[in-house]
Amino acid sequence: MADTLKNPKDTPNPGRRRFLTAATTVVGAAVAGTMAVAMIESLEPTAAEAASASTSVNLEPIEPGMQVTVPWQKKPAIVVNRTPAMLATLAEAEQKNLLKDPQCDVPQQPPYCRNRFRARKPEWLVMVRICTHLCCIPHYRPKRASVAPWWLGGFYCPCHGSMYDLSGRVIKGSPAPHNMAVPEYVFSPDGKAVTITTMYKKAHLC
Ligand code: FES
Repeated sequence: MADTLKNPKDTPNPGRRRFLTAATTVVGAAVAGTMAVAMIESLEPTAAEAASASTSVNLEPIEPGMQVTVPWQKKPAIVVNRTPAMLATLAEAEQKNLLKDPQCDVPQQPPYCRNRFRARKPEWLVMVRICTHLCCIPHYRPKRASVAPWWLGGFYCPCHGSMYDLSGRVIKGSPAPHNMAVPEYVFSPDGKAVTITTMYKKAHLC
């Protein structure tokens, strides 16, 4: 299975292998779209097919505070249902001057997501969970003080210690240069699903 999901630079990557395990456990619960793990295992899509595939995610099973990882264009996309308390940490991170690019000046997200939440709707974070340092898969660590005493919640990359807030904005002192990438996506008219469509062209994964 690891051979079918290669990282963006086609280099061996232990973090991506960990993603495969995590994605397999969640996709059955939340993915209603075109790509499923079984399909990835049994088919070898062409590069063009993989690059154009969209993935729809049912939001209804995703409880507040929960993260779901889904395979999308051979990448680990995530959807996080952020609580009001989690959203409050984003302003706190800015006030404490923790972030390298708090205003998202580097175009790592579509223009409609250039805000504190890096999202169309504040509570829903849709992002590619690939560390911008060397393409590892950061861990979701939403609880305060779960990584360090000052930790507000976010994503922690154990490979070389990069840290991100709960919007995927990189924290100062991390080896990662940029915020994690946000893809293009749309919500269904009833707001019960999100479809991740294409990679934002200006964004760099790693
Ligand atoms: S790959 Fe994430 S810190 Fe190096």
